[in-house]
Amino acid sequence: MLGSVEGTMLNVLFKINDKLVPKQHRAGLRDVYDRGDYYWSRLTQRRDIFTQVEIETNTNCNRKCRICPRHKHEREIGFMPDALYSHLLDQLASIGFRGRLSPVFYNEPLMDPRIFRLMKEAKEKLPRTNIVLFTNGSLLTKENIEELVEAGVDTLLVSQYEGNLRADEETYVDAARDVSPRARKTIRYRTLGDEDFLSSSGGLVRVKKPVTKSRCMQASLSCVVDFRGDVVLCCNDYNGNHVFGNVGKEHILDIWNKPEFKKLRKQLRHGDFQLDICKTCAAGGVPA
Ligand SMILES: C[S@@+](CC[C@H](N)C(=O)[O-])C[C@H]1O[C@@H](n2cnc3c(N)ncnc32)[C@H](O)[C@@H]1O
Ligand code: SF4
Ligand code: SF4
Repeated sequence: MLGSVEGTMLNVLFKINDKLVPKQHRAGLRDVYDRGDYYWSRLTQRRDIFTQVEIETNTNCNRKCRICPRHKHEREIGFMPDALYSHLLDQLASIGFRGRLSPVFYNEPLMDPRIFRLMKEAKEKLPRTNIVLFTNGSLLTKENIEELVEAGVDTLLVSQYEGNLRADEETYVDAARDVSPRARKTIRYRTLGDEDFLSSSGGLVRVKKPVTKSRCMQASLSCVVDFRGDVVLCCNDYNGNHVFGNVGKEHILDIWNKPEFKKLRKQLRHGDFQLDICKTCAAGGVPA
């Protein structure tokens, strides 16, 4: 139940944020949502547990967007081994994970030919998770949209980059035109432009209007596992400078519950930014 509530709430948030909320208020609304999500999960699950898991099934991307660390920082090309991915899903199933699952870090999931099988396995092992697949949309076709939906993807979140952030023609608009009504319902567009408040990814990218933070809920909500199985600080830790354990060697819950990780998350929730990456992130990095 919690998973579907969380998923529905997130979808509603994306819709409201994109369509109704003025750009300058979007980060504030996100913070309100994140705090609600955290305290709701503490209340209903009676434990400190993440509500989202982000898995870097592959590291590759076909773009180098200016607002993304990939623009200037190379990333090793790699795939999470099948066995490690299955093992991670088993761990998530063992703790009754029902939140949001996304095959994402700084990658394009559709660059992984296994993506349909991986999403199918996730849905089979974790039937109550809300699978949100973030994509730049350039590789979407009518056929693979249907296949992803069939595999169990609940939301296809297609980023559209405005103005000079645009990388190529928006072929996905055409791809989405003829899909089934069921598939159409899963597609959501998210627009990002220079005038949006964007993340500096811990200071790795310069954006015109960087998001600043007085506290951070992100590390408390989302567990990020890179392609090697390393649990990293958060989605901004592009270089994996802060690793708390490896799911190939330890259970994800044991990693999450390590005292040093718990302490750090608590400090972050209270606006106590100890790590350099967090200080930079909170300050919005270096504006463009
Ligand atoms: C890093 S991307 C990876 C997935 C896919 N390649 C894509 O671009 O959608 C994940 C999400 O981060 C968003 N994103 C990228 N750069 C961002 C930035 N500087 N600030 C905020 N969101 C950003 C993207 O729009 C996307 O929704
Ligand atoms: S934002 Fe997405 S599409 Fe753009 S470079 Fe980063 S990972 Fe690739
Ligand atoms: S403050 Fe730290 S933990 Fe929070 S999003 Fe930024 S880099 Fe990640």
